[in-house]
Amino acid sequence: MLYRLARTGIFQLDAEKAHDLAIDNFKRFTGTPLDLFYRQKLPHRPVECMGITFPNPVGLAAGLDKNGECIEAFDAMGFGFVEVGTVTPRPQPGNDKPRLFRLVEAEGIINRMGFNNKGVDYLVENVKKANFNCVLGINIGKNKDTPIEKGTEDYLICMEKVYEHAGYIAANISSPNTPGLRTLQYGEALDELLSALKDKQAELAEKFDKYVPLALKIAPDLSDDEIEQICQSLIKFKIDGVIATNTTLDRSLVEGMKHANEAGGLSGRPVQSRSTEVVRKLSKALKGQLPIIGVGGVDSVIAAKEKMSAGAELVQVYSGFIYHGPGLVRDIVKNL
Ligand SMILES: Cc1cc2nc3c(=O)[nH]c(=O)nc-3n(C[C@H](O)[C@H](O)[C@H](O)COP(=O)(O)O)c2cc1C
Repeated sequence: MLYRLARTGIFQLDAEKAHDLAIDNFKRFTGTPLDLFYRQKLPHRPVECMGITFPNPVGLAAGLDKNGECIEAFDAMGFGFVEVGTVTPRPQPGNDKPRLFRLVEAEGIINRMGFNNKGVDYLVENVKKANFNCVLGINIGKNKDTPIEKGTEDYLICMEKVYEHAGYIAANISSPNTPGLRTLQYGEALDELLSALKDKQAELAEKFDKYVPLALKIAPDLSDDEIEQICQSLIKFKIDGVIATNTTLDRSLVEGMKHANEAGGLSGRPVQSRSTEVVRKLSKALKGQLPIIGVGGVDSVIAAKEKMSAGAELVQVYSGFIYHGPGLVRDIVKNL
């Protein structure tokens, strides 16, 4: 109710300004009595996944807290896990504005942010300062000006810097807004990346005497064969989990709507059924050999249950959170 009221005001603002304002307020309210606006005490619903105990199966998807600036606020909202990032080795401004659009009638969002972030060192400093109980995922990527053939190096730099501080690490190879990034999802490029990441993980596990699971985040825009091939690589390289899905390039469900033709990735309700379909296909191909984290259009208890029936062990929300606020997390955790 409170969020619905606040949303009316927030949605009057330009989408990115509203986002920045929310992040600023979360930063300012943390640790003060004002955090009562979003603090919620949720039942403990522990889930074992990737060798970690998650307090509950509902997480914040990557991209909302790109720099790890408000982990404590999202923890206070009751998220079982928060995935910060995508972070890149060096700070970068992202694409030109405007680059974030609401498709209100579809409860969708189109973004072409382009990994705007303050760099991995800044994120690590924020994580070190934060106090939280949820599991922390750190989502890593490559800088836009790093040639795609050298992309692996960027992932390794980030992995090395975040390893000690992460509950799990997610390698994002599925953003549509970094030119060439999605080519890492295929064939030899994928195998090379996964092999290098696994070697680095083994080296860092020994160094820190701590095994940090590694998940791969994939796109919804993949053919059945491509999903099958990705699964074979995930199994071959013993990747710990797969996050499905990122945003889609498909606009068929939003045709004719305002902003529908903006370039970028579409998220929210319009990607819901495609994401669930990808989760189902992954589940069939993986046969339980590694866990699936389902994301894409989770905007209700029913949508969360659909992801889980399709094979997801955990779910994440982004757009649903923008449209429904922290109450969505409460509803899902209470009713799963
Ligand atoms: C504005 C915006 C920025 C995003 N940035 C990232 C990102 O940096 N890294 C990433 O892996 N996913 C990013 N995503 C994708 C989300 O994490 C999620 O996979 C996708 O939006 C589908 O979930 P949803 O329908 O709940 O939004 C972003 C999504 C949005 C809407």
